Amino acid sequence: MLKDLMRYPIIQAPMAGGASSPRLAASVSNAGGLGFLAAGYKTAEEMKDEIGQTRQLTERPFGVNVFVPGNEAVDENILSGYREKIEKEAESVGAEIGKADSDDDDWGNKLHVLKEAGVSVVSFTFGCPTEDVIRELQDVGSLIAVTVTNLQEAKKAAGADILCVQGFEAGGHRASFDNRTEEDYGLLVLIRMIKDELSLPIIAAGGLMHGKDIAAVLEAGAIAAQLGTAFLRCPESGASPVHKAALGNPRFTQTSITRAFSGRRARGLVNHFLTEYDSVAPVAYPYVHHMTKQMRKAAGQKNNPELMALWAGQGYKLSRELPASELVELLVEELNWEGFGS
Ligand SMILES: Cc1cc2nc3c(=O)[nH]c(=O)nc-3n(C[C@H](O)[C@H](O)[C@H](O)COP(=O)(O)O)c2cc1C
Repeated sequence: MLKDLMRYPIIQAPMAGGASSPRLAASVSNAGGLGFLAAGYKTAEEMKDEIGQTRQLTERPFGVNVFVPGNEAVDENILSGYREKIEKEAESVGAEIGKADSDDDDWGNKLHVLKEAGVSVVSFTFGCPTEDVIRELQDVGSLIAVTVTNLQEAKKAAGADILCVQGFEAGGHRASFDNRTEEDYGLLVLIRMIKDELSLPIIAAGGLMHGKDIAAVLEAGAIAAQLGTAFLRCPESGASPVHKAALGNPRFTQTSITRAFSGRRARGLVNHFLTEYDSVAPVAYPYVHHMTKQMRKAAGQKNNPELMALWAGQGYKLSRELPASELVELLVEELNWEGFGS
């Protein structure tokens, strides 16, 4: 059971792009929460390596998150139209717009590694794996969580052990099974809708920044809270220094959900690229991700937050720059935690 894996009902969210490093995941797990690695955008080998590194840093349980590949049909003309619009932005940082590629994020090889690794929890995003995949991972001792953003997705994921319920406050990509979905719910509404119909344990995610927020979702029926943005500024977080600095920069005043960077809806700080291209960005993941990859990287190297995907949840102004173990302790204190009970 999930609660046997941690002392406190606090999960550090998987955050692809470097933030949820082995150091961050291990620190959170060592502090009594549950750390998570994000395998998204990594090769299976890189994921395996990170699992090994994390095991060197903690003997406590931790989780690994993987992206479920889709097979979106895209219109080449729309992609080349977008390329023409954004080309000058890439050039401004000495980069090129990349080839509009699609891939399966090394799905098959990652499943193979995970079946060998037997990590405590495997969570899935952007879809629900088949019953066979779920069973094979359960057979090696992993608990399976599927991230959902509405009731239909929750019903499709009923074969998992746990639902990770993502409210629209959440930073980063919406976990929607279908990229065209634009159905967004606030976290409390979504927890209630799902709890009324299904009895699976719920991890709540989205906009949780303070111990009292965790208390609120536990009261609403979640078994644990998953926090991403709250951990982004920790020294152990592998988020880029430019991203970390932007979270505290008064130039940025709000977040918004956009397809501009990846072709999939994700919440981040409103910067130049998001403002200019949100309304013309195609529904085309991971094609647009590959197109903007070099530009985002070059912008980071040039200390230019205006062309980067600065993923952040609605609560980002409430984030606290503390070592991960101190943040976990503070959250527990604010939560007034008395244990999971029997
Ligand atoms: C920088 C960043 C990267 C993220 N990457 C992933 C990911 O790889 N997989 C995933 O399931 N969720 C990802 N998320 C979403 C988180 O798992 C979680 O749902 C979200 O952070 C919760 O909202 P909060 O940021 O307001 O705490 C990411 C979020 C952020 C901020």
